Amino acid sequence: MEQIEVLISEEEVETKICELAKQISIDYAGKEVHLIAILKGSVFFTCELAKRLTVPVTMDFMTVSSYGDGMVSAGQITIKKELDEDIDGKEVLIVEDIVDSGHTLMHLKKLLLGRNPASLKIATLLDKPDCREVEIKPDYCGFVIPDRYVVGYGLDYAQQYRNLPYIGVIDQK
Ligand code: IMP
Ligand code: MG
Repeated sequence: MEQIEVLISEEEVETKICELAKQISIDYAGKEVHLIAILKGSVFFTCELAKRLTVPVTMDFMTVSSYGDGMVSAGQITIKKELDEDIDGKEVLIVEDIVDSGHTLMHLKKLLLGRNPASLKIATLLDKPDCREVEIKPDYCGFVIPDRYVVGYGLDYAQQYRNLPYIGVIDQK
């Protein structure tokens, strides 16, 4: 059985999301932002962020998979659930839980840019820049974290722990 140690508390996560929402609302003033949540990991972050945006918001969801039930990136991506709506002319903001190797976002960014959005930016709750294999930088980032496998606030380990209200690290000792 894994032990979970708190890395970022619920309060810290919520404070940070409020700050991000404030900044995004300023940056998108006078526009409508189209959030694309990457399922399943980013649902908690997306909801909390969306509730605090003061600009008009529309939302869509996509499931992309680059990981199995293990901890190592496969370096490959499959689209498991397509967007419901066209993004042509929209101010798209991809909402991710975590950027690790960067492969998922690199692939997604290319794919979505080909669909002619008015703009395309990335918001991520967590970033592990030490793990980057391709050059990609999120436009909005909650926390830069070290190279540790994290769970909670939507993030899973073998589909478990998504419901933890904080970000924790698994200690497998
Ligand atoms: P990337 O393509 O390597 O950047 O992987 C990004 C995806 O891998 C994220 O959207 C997560 O679903 C998953 N992932 C990467 N690191 C972690 C982690 O520490 N905990 C849980 N999921 C992770
Ligand atoms: Mg993900």
